[in-house]
Amino acid sequence: MTIATAPAPETVRVDLPGRAYDILIGNGLLEQAASHLQPLLRRKRVAIVTETRVAAHHLQTLLEAFSVAGIAASTLILPPGEGTKDWVHFTETADWLLSEKIERGDIVVAFGGGVIGDLAGFAAAVVRRGIRFVQIPTTLLAQVDSSVGGKTGINTAMGKNLVGAFHQPSLVLADIGLLDSLPRRDLLAGYGEVVKYGLLGDAAFFDWLEQNGPALAAGDLAARSYAVRRSCEMKAGIVMRDETEQGERALLNLGHTFCHALEAATGYSHRLLHGEGVAVGCALAFELSARLGLCSQEDPSRVRAHLRAMGMKTDIADIPGDLPDANGLLRLMGQDKKVVDGTLRFILARGIGEAFVTSDVPKETVLSVLADALAER
Ligand code: GLY
Repeated sequence: MTIATAPAPETVRVDLPGRAYDILIGNGLLEQAASHLQPLLRRKRVAIVTETRVAAHHLQTLLEAFSVAGIAASTLILPPGEGTKDWVHFTETADWLLSEKIERGDIVVAFGGGVIGDLAGFAAAVVRRGIRFVQIPTTLLAQVDSSVGGKTGINTAMGKNLVGAFHQPSLVLADIGLLDSLPRRDLLAGYGEVVKYGLLGDAAFFDWLEQNGPALAAGDLAARSYAVRRSCEMKAGIVMRDETEQGERALLNLGHTFCHALEAATGYSHRLLHGEGVAVGCALAFELSARLGLCSQEDPSRVRAHLRAMGMKTDIADIPGDLPDANGLLRLMGQDKKVVDGTLRFILARGIGEAFVTSDVPKETVLSVLADALAER
């Protein structure tokens, strides 16, 4: 059943010393964007970075909100897709901000999904040695993960997110009403990151998702609001304890070591969206944990059952087209940022909601998990 009315907006505070900010979660926040940004503005001027699909659906609403409030807004509209997160579009964005004479006291608005948030955030981090920015994430993935916590950056020929900076936003406006315009595949990909939070640290949240995930996917605003809030609360807590990923923050990469290898193997293409790779990666991380005797075999089965019930990509077999063999995938994992002293670090689990970081994983066990998963194709 779809609940028509949305709950009142909620706030999650990311209480970093000197860089504290709010994440507002609610329906219709886009229309109210000007009043939420107003207290941050030193002059009535913002620069919006977005992409064509978001612009087609939502830019007019945002521009009108600024215009009514007398805030001058200029807009850079980039192409959609992961390919935009590169040096070429970074240079374009940085040069555009300078040509628009955006000053340190102004605000850059990153208006889009993870690609736009990471790219615009990185440009804001380095142009004039740092301009404040506001995230208005338009995808579920960006609302629960990439817009929060200050990781910004671009991809290079060597791999994903290898050049970037920690630059915390000054505000995040997560308008759950915007999720209605997302293609179902993108919504479910973002849901992969939501499931990740339950799996890494909150078994009760995973139970809740098993019950409420289908309603969330169908458009239930109360379910969407709770899932985004709980995800942001968990991420905010982790970021406050470990902003620059010296330890605990690595838990947010549950499923990502496998995911990054699968994304590289599929050429960062439409064959596998990032959130889909996270979901498949989480199932593989639980399978690896079970094989190492860390958790019961029922845990990976339960993870896979939930992903399947949601109609999501669950196994390597769900990825279309050719893939490298197990050794090839393992080699691709070697480029992961979690490699320390040449040793791969994995996020494994002692049970649902009990993830931990370890380097103590025999290569043979990883290879056997991959080989078995590939054999199901
Ligand atoms: N997406 C992982 C992190 O923000 O640390």
